[in-house]
Order: sequence, then C-alpha cells, then structure tokens
Amino acid sequence: MPIMPYRISRLGLVEIRSLDLDRDLDYYLNVLGLQLTAREGKTAYLKGWDERHAYSFALTESDRAGMVRMAFRTVDPEDLDYYEKRLKDFGIKYDIIPEDYRRGRAIRFTAPSGHTVELYNEMDYTGNLLPTVNPGPWPEGLRGIAPPRLDHTLVTAPEPGKAIEFFQTVLEFRLSEMLVAPDGTIIAAWLWQRPAPHDIAIVPGKPGGFHHAAFVVDSADALFRAADILAMHKARIDYGPGRHGITRGTTIYFFDPSGNRLETFGGYTAYQMDPDSRAIRWTQDQIGPAVFYYSGWRHRRMRPRGDRTGRYPQSRGERHVRLPRWRLWHVQDASDLRPDRTRALFRRRSP
Ligand SMILES: [Fe+2]
Repeated sequence: MPIMPYRISRLGLVEIRSLDLDRDLDYYLNVLGLQLTAREGKTAYLKGWDERHAYSFALTESDRAGMVRMAFRTVDPEDLDYYEKRLKDFGIKYDIIPEDYRRGRAIRFTAPSGHTVELYNEMDYTGNLLPTVNPGPWPEGLRGIAPPRLDHTLVTAPEPGKAIEFFQTVLEFRLSEMLVAPDGTIIAAWLWQRPAPHDIAIVPGKPGGFHHAAFVVDSADALFRAADILAMHKARIDYGPGRHGITRGTTIYFFDPSGNRLETFGGYTAYQMDPDSRAIRWTQDQIGPAVFYYSGWRHRRMRPRGDRTGRYPQSRGERHVRLPRWRLWHVQDASDLRPDRTRALFRRRSP
C-alpha cells in the first residue's frame, strides 16, 4: 500500500466567536492562560506558551458563539501548491487569501461539513517563551492552566461521511479511529496527519458546528491542576477530569464565558501514529466508553439495549448520570446558545 507523504504539520489556527471580547479575553488570559499576541479591532490573537509561530487561536467579537474558521499549516510552501492543484482536480471552489495578520498566502474553501477551512504555510516565527540557548523546562510567570499548545478540534457535520471522505481523499488525512454503525456506515471519525491520534474529528450534528477546540496538558498533575483552576474560577465544567476510550487521551470538557466548549487534552496517555498505522474501529453499541471511558457505559442512551446494570450492578446512582438533551452525540453546539443563556455558564469569583 503506498504511503502518503506528510504534508500538514499541525492544526495551525482555530478562530471562534466571542460575545464579549473584554470579558472573554480576561478568561482566556487568566483562567485558560493563553498568551496574547495582539488585539486588532474586534479580534484577539493568542497562543500557548510553547508555540513558535505568532498565534494559533483567535477570538472575534460577534453576536453568537461558534467557529469562524480552522486553518492547517503545511509542512513546506510547495505543499500549498500541491493542495491547490488537488482542490482544482476535485472541482472544489476555493479563494486565495494573499495575506492575513502576520501570515502569508492561504487557500480558503468550504468543507462539505460547512466549515471554512484554510491551508497556509507562512506565519511569523516569534519563538516560544523560552530562550533558544540553554532553556529551562518551562517559563516562569505563567497564569491559569497555561497549556503549551493547541492540539485539535472536533466539529459537527450533518452528513459526517461526506466530510470525512473529503478530509481523507482531498486533503489526505488518515483515519486513526472511527465509530461505525451496525450496517458499516462510519458515524464519526478521528483524522490525523502529524503523528498523533487526531488533528480534527468529525461527528454528527449541524453544518459548520463547533464542538470544541482542545489544548494540551502534558501530565496527570497538569490535568488535575487544570480542573482545580476551572473550579476555583467557577468556570462551567462539562465533563471530567476523565479519559476518552477513543485516543485514550485524558480530558476535561469545559465552557468559555460565551458558551464555546474547550478541552484540555492529555495526549501524554495517547498513542503515536505511524504511517502504517491501521484505523481502530468502535462499534455503535460501545459509544459510551468510546467517548467517556470511565462513565460512558452508565449513560442511559449510550448503553446497549438490555444492558441495564453493567458487570457490577449498582443500586444507586444511575438515574443521576443522564446527560441533558442527549442525542446521538454529546452535542450541544455553542452556536445554539443565546447570549442571555450563556451568562450562567461562567461566573468569575471576585478577587
Ligand atoms: Fe477532543
């Protein structure tokens, strides 16, 4: 089997909407602990402390939450030309964006999932917060969770199969894991190019939907410290600390003040991909542990029919763990949230 070359180095940018940029910047700088590169008009550009390019995350003020765009950085400048030809060959409409804030040429198109996707190569190299000569292991003076970098995003699509095929066929992402219906249809997929379990995942839901953007935490200590910080600031935790069956990564799902879901992802427990890696398959009846490994089997709609108790029956507790508004996936897309409903998601404790 021919092995495709590796042309995308990382998920280079996620841009999401903020209902109140001042309020949310305070959260992103002091609770999540990202580094502010710049604020230009209604957009703030941010990054993790160990990222070497100018920014990886952008917040733009808007009247609703959700994703504006995602961008992938190619390995070489020539890879942009390669993908441009590929989009042309597949008849996909695209625009060339000559430049963006501290970034060079990009190709912009709409994926079948409804998301705005960009490919770029050049972005200002600003270095991380450590010196390049005799660096220490981490910079002093970090605030909040202070993740070193952006890791991946998980988005929704009304017809996930079409979106997954697009990312596989046109953009040459590989499948690391998939959730499969009894008839063999792929319901959801985790896709990679850098040697990690995923750069992007696609699950069923509305077009252009944003489930979460994930930032790295690199140890169990950092995971629990992140949960402490979120609780200390009364940020709304959606799930965790826990572990995904898919990817094996540890996780906390939580919300920003605008209602966008974020994740701390512990890739330190995940595996590394190899060009010859074969995709892992999860069957639909195991969706519970696939998503939330420790507790997913207890969620009523995640359990296979007839399996009411698990191996060790419990007389109490099960009725307390139902997820609200559960559909197939734990999707509560941030863009569903109206401003007046998001205030309750987050209350900063006064200093
Ligand atoms: Fe994730």
